[in-house]
Amino acid sequence: MTVIRLQQITDLSHHFADPFIKAGDRVVDATAGNGKDTIFLVEKVGPSGLVYAFDIQQEALKGTEQVLREAGLTDRVRCICDGHENMIDYIEDPVNAVIYNLGYLPGGNHEITTTRETTEKSLKTAFELLASGGVVMIVLYPGHPAGQEEKEMLLPLCRSLDPDHFSSVHLYLLNKTGIPPELIAIQKNHF
Ligand SMILES: C[S@@+](CC[C@H](N)C(=O)[O-])C[C@H]1O[C@@H](n2cnc3c(N)ncnc32)[C@H](O)[C@@H]1O
Repeated sequence: MTVIRLQQITDLSHHFADPFIKAGDRVVDATAGNGKDTIFLVEKVGPSGLVYAFDIQQEALKGTEQVLREAGLTDRVRCICDGHENMIDYIEDPVNAVIYNLGYLPGGNHEITTTRETTEKSLKTAFELLASGGVVMIVLYPGHPAGQEEKEMLLPLCRSLDPDHFSSVHLYLLNKTGIPPELIAIQKNHF
């Protein structure tokens, strides 16, 4: 049985995404990092699915590839060393989910982080690529300066989405000290 911890925002991101992803789907890990989201997605889409995993750091993708090799799951993933803002160059068909875990690589260089500009460009592409009923999950970290800038871009953008086409939800822990991470979930409405 999978243990879901409300205090772990990435658990919540997976929990929210879970019912929307099925075997055979095409999905995107927009920030592969150490591969935890990639593994979650790979297991969900199964042998007939495909995961596009983006990261700008070769070091991060090496970590992701290692985790995938250990799990024997390399064949369902396309690891792409490029910014997610360029995902349109790699993906032609609609996707069922796009997962972001913004910020910097844990244990890596904290100067290399997602940014307001690239995240905004990427998200707008993700909205275009999403299949009917597909979802975007965004874990954001407003406790660091680039994360705060992303939040200032994300909330108005998600609030302004046309309700006839998209639904968006915002979650965060009320009883955590400091500035806790947050989750934004967006669905392209069924048509
Ligand atoms: C918080 S980590 C991701 C953690 C990862 N999802 C996991 O499960 O381990 C954020 C990652 O985003 C990457 N990143 C930063 N800017 C990016 C961009 N424009 N496109 C894709 N990845 C980017 C960083 O290199 C870093 O590895």
